[in-house]
Amino acid sequence: MTLREMHWSDIETLAALDVELFADDAWAPATWWSELAERPRRRYVIEEQDGRIAAYGGVDVAGETADVMTIAVAPDAQGRGAGRAMLDALVRLATDGGAEALLLEVRADNESARKLYDRNGFETLTIRRRYYQPGDVDAVIMRRHLVREDQP
Ligand SMILES: CC(C)(COP(=O)(O)OP(=O)(O)OC[C@H]1O[C@@H](n2cnc3c(N)ncnc32)[C@H](O)[C@@H]1OP(=O)(O)O)[C@@H](O)C(=O)NCCC(=O)NCCS
Repeated sequence: MTLREMHWSDIETLAALDVELFADDAWAPATWWSELAERPRRRYVIEEQDGRIAAYGGVDVAGETADVMTIAVAPDAQGRGAGRAMLDALVRLATDGGAEALLLEVRADNESARKLYDRNGFETLTIRRRYYQPGDVDAVIMRRHLVREDQP
């Protein structure tokens, strides 16, 4: 797999994958455009395999805290470590940007994502009750402390 920066020419494919992977919470092409064009603090990357998008994700890095904006693995690439690799890439981007902690928000009913975060150093900070509508699904806010290599 190859890690590369996201580019505007990826947007059509990403918007289609988002509908498959996030249904009602998918980002429309206009959202992707604005994320790439108007948000300089955000870094979006893609894991490519055989010329196809296997995984994608992004972080917002602002001072001591960074936020995961999105993370996803294409349906036919899931369950083989691509999610973990993308999470590692986002952790590196956040750390290199100077952040000391990485925050994310996950639906309480998203078992595969929660397992990924639980096993990779994230702890639950707080729960926002009935945050996702429709469906009354809680949002779980998680945090991982980051360690910079130049720190003693
Ligand atoms: C969540 C997601 C990114 C995981 O990606 P993935 O490539 O399938 O995950 P990996 O193969 O790297 O597995 C990472 C861990 O998650 C767990 N996992 C992955 N798929 C799982 C599943 N379907 N059910 C339960 N656990 C699962 C594995 O146990 C693995 O842990 P381990 O390595 O300790 O065994 C992927 O399922 C996805 O894109 N889902 C749709 C979009 C989404 O929900 N994104 C997260 C939004 S917060």
